[in-house]
Amino acid sequence: MTRNPTSTLPLPPDAPDASRHPFAEAVEAWYGRHGRRLPWRDTADPYRIWISEIILQQTRVAQGYDYYVRFVRRFPDVFSLAAASEDEVLAAWQGLGYYSRARNLHAAARSIAAAGAFPTTYEGVRALRGVGPYTAAAICSFAYGLPHAVVDGNVYRVLARHFGLSTPIDSTAGRHEFAALAEALLDRKAPALYNQALMDFGALQCTPQNPNCTACPLNGSCVARQRGSVEALPVREKRTAVRDRYFVYLYLLRPDGSLLLRRRPAGDIWQGLYEPLLLEFSSAPSETDVMGHAAWATLGPVSSVAQVVRGRLHVLTHQRLHMDGYLVRLASDAALPGFVRVEAGARDAYAVPRLVELLFEAVDAYI
Ligand code: ADE
Repeated sequence: MTRNPTSTLPLPPDAPDASRHPFAEAVEAWYGRHGRRLPWRDTADPYRIWISEIILQQTRVAQGYDYYVRFVRRFPDVFSLAAASEDEVLAAWQGLGYYSRARNLHAAARSIAAAGAFPTTYEGVRALRGVGPYTAAAICSFAYGLPHAVVDGNVYRVLARHFGLSTPIDSTAGRHEFAALAEALLDRKAPALYNQALMDFGALQCTPQNPNCTACPLNGSCVARQRGSVEALPVREKRTAVRDRYFVYLYLLRPDGSLLLRRRPAGDIWQGLYEPLLLEFSSAPSETDVMGHAAWATLGPVSSVAQVVRGRLHVLTHQRLHMDGYLVRLASDAALPGFVRVEAGARDAYAVPRLVELLFEAVDAYI
């Protein structure tokens, strides 16, 4: 069922604060009792809020918390971030994944530093690399008190359930309908409070699975609860296609104890991070497929090969990576074009994807 959001949200004539919808009032009251104290909520510094929002774009609060604290300690303002090298920023980001966030952050920091100050308008913030409508609304409401409503997965879920909306959230009609409803509900006198409250309400109370409806202060007015459709909402039109990729890493160890790594190119996941020699296959390779790969001919003499990882699964948003790893001891110290020679003990200075870290752990356990 689809409803016109503006026509379904009349303010009661006796509302104590006519600027605040009863939904906003209830969510804010809930937040007063259950909201989380988080370090980026104790500041109005747009730089810090920006960093927190970029970290939280694809990372849960529990995991992002320590990264945020370390990141702002390492880069306390936009100028220190702008002055860092891309490798330093990627190293600080290591383990968080979705590294394009770190590269965009760095590029945006340089443009802000060149302009002299953090942008102070919605349009200015929205124009930063890596900042979409959600992140711009979060930064502008938290840092400047500007009246922009956040709409993310949590908000879609809460609104779809509370107002009983079944328009697919990934359709054009759905995006417009939810955006209009979110704007209509926004507490325009306290947009920061309202947005933070709605985020926590979605993350802690109106959870994707097993929401605790019995203890929910909004259960009396929740349409989905009345209809028994809580678990069915929100509705999505399409399932995201997921691609399987088969990675075989060759950890090339030279007789002098050094390792060969190279930087990943643009145009694929993990751009700019380092990795050992990668052979990629479109289906699960047999040992014969691996050993028959043309790359072996470029390595020169090899003194031993041992498999140290088999079929390790690593799931990204649109890809499922299956990784095999081999420890390959080279018989000579010759260089390999395109690779950097990494001294034994210097490996940690290179930012690598989490999957490569797992390979390193397996190699270390084997050696
Ligand atoms: N997720 C995205 N932004 C957030 C914030 N400011 N607080 C908690 N969770 C979030």
